[in-house]
Amino acid sequence: MPGSLTRPTSIAPATGKLGILTPGLGAVATTFIAGVESIRRGHTKPIGSLTQMATIRLGKRTEHRSPLIKDFVPLAALPDLVFGAWDPIADDAYTAAKKAGVLSSEHLEPLKDFLSEIKPMSAAFESRFVTRLLGVNNVKSGPTYRDIAEQLRADMRNFKAANGCDRLVIVWCASTEAFILPGPQHATIESFEKAMDENDQAIAPSMLYAYAALMENVPFCNGAPNLTVDLPCMLQLANDRGVPVSGKDFKTGQTWMKTIIAPGLKARMLGLEGWYSTNILGNRDGEVLDDPASFKTKEESKLSVLHNILQPDVYPDLYKDFSHVVRINYYPPRGDNKEGWDSIDIIGWMGYPMQIKVNFLCRDSILAAPIVLDLALFSDFAHRAGMKGIQEWLSFYYKSPMAGPGLQPEHDLFIQQTKLKNTLRFLMGEDQITHLGLEYYT
Ligand SMILES: NC(=O)c1ccc[n+]([C@@H]2O[C@H](COP(=O)([O-])OP(=O)(O)OC[C@H]3O[C@@H](n4cnc5c(N)ncnc54)[C@H](O)[C@@H]3O)[C@@H](O)[C@H]2O)c1
Repeated sequence: MPGSLTRPTSIAPATGKLGILTPGLGAVATTFIAGVESIRRGHTKPIGSLTQMATIRLGKRTEHRSPLIKDFVPLAALPDLVFGAWDPIADDAYTAAKKAGVLSSEHLEPLKDFLSEIKPMSAAFESRFVTRLLGVNNVKSGPTYRDIAEQLRADMRNFKAANGCDRLVIVWCASTEAFILPGPQHATIESFEKAMDENDQAIAPSMLYAYAALMENVPFCNGAPNLTVDLPCMLQLANDRGVPVSGKDFKTGQTWMKTIIAPGLKARMLGLEGWYSTNILGNRDGEVLDDPASFKTKEESKLSVLHNILQPDVYPDLYKDFSHVVRINYYPPRGDNKEGWDSIDIIGWMGYPMQIKVNFLCRDSILAAPIVLDLALFSDFAHRAGMKGIQEWLSFYYKSPMAGPGLQPEHDLFIQQTKLKNTLRFLMGEDQITHLGLEYYT
């Protein structure tokens, strides 16, 4: 039944190694891998990661029980993680990280031995979905899309065996694909398989990874706004095979800010006249998003946030017809250090206008890397706890969260956080926390 969650009778322990595979070995993936290795060597702390740093309150406030999440929930430990990737550019993780320019040599050079060993497997890739990518030299070929998907499945099995992994999880960290709408080809598993056999143009490479992962019982997290697992055929497959999936699009810079500020405006019943957001960024992601087809996919993901939080239908006096503009401009000098500008026009008592300006000098991949870690560890945990299909409790991490059929996605960061923590409490047999504050009277 959609929306219901059954408490597992047992949760398999996190024994052995967990392989984390990323389609894409670019800025986000290499920053994630380098960061985990740096933490393992004691060079840095896992800042930004809930699985490593956050606590969770259990029981009544008077009980003073607030363990670290990682001590409460059986998650894979960092020493047990093994990394692999696919990329159409054959650079190893060290070379790719250097090119991405996120981490300085001070942090990269000590990890050169480790990162140089991570070489990407050949990718399922088609330039019609990512037109701006240059230097492509590591791509699979085969007579049909089905054949490519089978090659991806073999990669997963081979990686698992070669690295002695107990389990795998996949987090999409590859470029944003050109915008497409779901069609009849994506309606059922049968129609999708037929479309793969017929090399139907409605099949995007990311769908082949998702299909291959689900067929291999590997949880799939989608860090980009492409449809990928957010298709009826994939959800059917995930439910049939008992595999957790989640998406879409890591919630990092500007949208993360939106999901903090907009709930605050609504909580105070302040109106909104308009929200103008622009970004300048100069990394490869920025270059890819400079293509209107890829930007359209991103724009769809970024625009839905405010409407869902502010509910103009429920509060027409406050939020009817506010204008919302999002721009991304490719500006090479900025590199991975994106600059986001938000100009927010709000309305107060007696209709008086006010303005909020946010200038966020953020580092995209530094914000995304801990999200990759948390998604991988939580999805592996969810799988061991017998959860399957859309993991709405992981909406916290996504710009455009997947929701069950007929349900609106939840965008408010604080509701998402409560849902995440309450799901962990529920799965581990603890009471959910409602913040009713009646402890004194019971
Ligand atoms: N950095 C963030 O804060 C953030 C936030 C939300 C979403 N994202 C998304 O995460 C993704 C990765 O971002 P990034 O900054 O690392 O980009 P990037 O351009 O540095 O890396 C993407 C990598 O994916 C590879 N790639 C492209 N198509 C592929 C395919 N079919 N299979 C395997 N690899 C493929 C590219 O060669 C490239 O190396 C992008 O889609 C981006 O939109 C990033």
